[in-house]
Amino acid sequence: MTHYAKLTSPDSQMSEQSAAGLAFRKLQGRDWPRIMQVQQLTYPDTLLESQPALQAKQAVSPDTCFVVDVQGQVEGYLLALPYQLGRSPSLNDDRDMAAIFDNLHIHDFCLSPACRGQGMGRRIIQGLLSSPALNRFKTASVVSVMNSRYFWESFGFSDYCHPCAPNLSSYGQEASYLSLDLS
Ligand SMILES: CC(C)(COP(=O)(O)OP(=O)(O)OC[C@H]1O[C@@H](n2cnc3c(N)ncnc32)[C@H](O)[C@@H]1OP(=O)(O)O)[C@@H](O)C(=O)NCCC(=O)NCCS
Repeated sequence: MTHYAKLTSPDSQMSEQSAAGLAFRKLQGRDWPRIMQVQQLTYPDTLLESQPALQAKQAVSPDTCFVVDVQGQVEGYLLALPYQLGRSPSLNDDRDMAAIFDNLHIHDFCLSPACRGQGMGRRIIQGLLSSPALNRFKTASVVSVMNSRYFWESFGFSDYCHPCAPNLSSYGQEASYLSLDLS
């Protein structure tokens, strides 16, 4: 049975999306082949991660990893996990990661090219940030790549200013580490 995550509060947005055959639901094992395709359609080779590396992130926190399901087809995914504020998992790191932090790190959020630019990303992140599932977190963070900085800033994310800057070397030169206070 499919369990659809309730991410909006109130739920009106999500029920509209469900009525249109669109759902933001928890990631399941059968979703991986299509997730790998969407990743391949989106990122340059330098930013691609192996399936075990992505699965290692989901294994830490299955409750904060989702897919965008459009009429039964996965058209996007969001992988987020508790991770130390000011740090970022290296791309292709497939080691076990402990889920002990009160910062939710959005490791990857990606829509297939056909689904972009229609407000779907905004609705999903707004729903995520207002979800009770985030109550246990004090902050959220993301590494912005591919000119997505404006997108994240529109939710209040800003540069994380700390003397110990996170190591973003595996993310390319234009990457920025951004954070958001959730309290
Ligand atoms: C980033 C992404 C998830 C945004 O989802 P989306 O559905 O396309 O975004 P929306 O249509 O909801 O756009 C919301 C706003 O963000 C802006 N925006 C979205 N993606 C942007 C980008 N890559 N660069 C600049 N602005 C962007 C839109 O112009 C829009 O601005 P507006 O409200 O002022 O008009 C999607 O474009 C995507 O998957 N991109 C490729 C992967 C990626 O870059 N992921 C982010 C990794 S950190």
